[in-house]
Amino acid sequence: MRDREERTRSGPPEGSPTTSGFNRRDFLKGSGAAAAATALVTATETVTAQDVKSNVRSAEPQKVTLNVNGEDHTLEIEPRVTLLDALRNDLSLTGCKDVDERDAAGADTVIIDGKAVLAGSRLAIECEGQKIRTVESLVADGNIDPVVASFVKHDAQQCGFCTPGFVMAMRAFVDKNPKASDEEIREGLGGNICRCGTYDGIMKCALELTGGA
Ligand code: FES
Repeated sequence: MRDREERTRSGPPEGSPTTSGFNRRDFLKGSGAAAAATALVTATETVTAQDVKSNVRSAEPQKVTLNVNGEDHTLEIEPRVTLLDALRNDLSLTGCKDVDERDAAGADTVIIDGKAVLAGSRLAIECEGQKIRTVESLVADGNIDPVVASFVKHDAQQCGFCTPGFVMAMRAFVDKNPKASDEEIREGLGGNICRCGTYDGIMKCALELTGGA
């Protein structure tokens, strides 16, 4: 009886199993692991919160430095400004066109770190530290880029609104695929649209530049 009362007050002796199959040592081990896991989660949450905090920017205009066509330009712009607007409105580089809000036509194509990118789909602030090329860079210091020369040669434009985007998309594509096939060209330039339907001339340019014509 006495033995039964002591067990009721102080719990089972060290190491003896409980009715659920756990003993006190197991419980202590388990609670230690739980405490460590809680500490880890808390630490992770703290780091995450700090990371988020360091990424939060004020909505006020701030200095953003863009490297465009080999030159650094420091602008005072709001974080919400797209690269397209920064290029056109702040740097007067109007070659890339603002055709549609959904960026479906590709007329705003620029090259960032070697890749064709829609300038309207990027915030200018995201592009700090990257090398941005616009169509203006293809005709500079009296030199005409072969892509531009080919567009002229094959009369690959009508209204010309899509042309700068196509030229930049083709420049990036040919740089990466200098010997592309007909099918690869169609796929590679599929993100750009010409409402005037100058695809025949554009295809001739691409084939000429990739050695297919
Ligand atoms: S030349 Fe007019 S949209 Fe392409």
